[in-house]
Amino acid sequence: MTTTASDTAVTRFAPLQAGAPQSFQIRAFDAPLGAEVVGLDLSKPLGDDDFARIHRAHLEHHVLVFRDQRITPDEHVAFSRRFGPLQIHVLHQFALPGHPEVLIVSNVIENGKPIGLGDAGRFWHSDLSYKEKPSLGSLLHAQELPSEGGDTLFANMHLAWDTLPAHLRKAVEGKRAEHTYLARYAELQARSPWRPNLTPEQIAQVKPVVHPVVRTHPETGRKALFVSEHFTTRIVDLPEDESRALLDELFAHSVRPEHLYRHRWQAHDLVFWDNRSLMHLAAGTPDHLRRKLYRTTIEGDVPF
Ligand code: SIN
Repeated sequence: MTTTASDTAVTRFAPLQAGAPQSFQIRAFDAPLGAEVVGLDLSKPLGDDDFARIHRAHLEHHVLVFRDQRITPDEHVAFSRRFGPLQIHVLHQFALPGHPEVLIVSNVIENGKPIGLGDAGRFWHSDLSYKEKPSLGSLLHAQELPSEGGDTLFANMHLAWDTLPAHLRKAVEGKRAEHTYLARYAELQARSPWRPNLTPEQIAQVKPVVHPVVRTHPETGRKALFVSEHFTTRIVDLPEDESRALLDELFAHSVRPEHLYRHRWQAHDLVFWDNRSLMHLAAGTPDHLRRKLYRTTIEGDVPF
């Protein structure tokens, strides 16, 4: 399979195929977001009706957990492309060989070298919010899971907005914020082996961008807070101390326990989340245990 890359987005879509209808269930979690999909086999082409059902469920629940997916990286990529063009992560040294659109998320070190990005998700964030076109959604497929730890937490940023106290709503009205990939890069680099020095070309790919603090979901029209502790550096047009204090309040409110779902991974889970509705965090894996997952990232729209 050949891949054409334009800028950092892969623009070629896999041809749609008419798959036979499948019998599967979608079960909402007892949580402020998320549902599991049971009985669907993503190694088979998905028919348009089944795809439409999955698409609707994704918009409704924000995280879909597809259980027991024995899929290859090609099948993972093909399913992801049904939702849009794929983005190539700036740390291309952690791409799966032969699959530039697949980022290896792993704490494994082999022959003294990390095989993937081990501290992806160390701070709360929405994927690629530092791009002009941040991610629509990401699909993370479990390859190797630790016997303890390794959970992923998700925060519902629609709920964060809906429940935001009036004084904070007023403070963020019409405001825009800067997002920077490099915001905490040196801090991460100082404490982990997974952050290589960036080349000038890589740095040029991640120039700071500005997005609304409150965004509107382009498909559902729902509003969501869109700032994160990882990538948001400041609120534009506010003095530094006011900006810092406001961001700290927004972060603290966003991750209140009643907004969260904790995903405890099961073998062969494929987890598909909506970056326009959520932030996520990797809760951490004990150093002596191996964890490896493959991630694709779908390009979204310019936030408004
Ligand atoms: C990520 O932030 O994409 C990785 C999340 C995880 O490893 O749980």
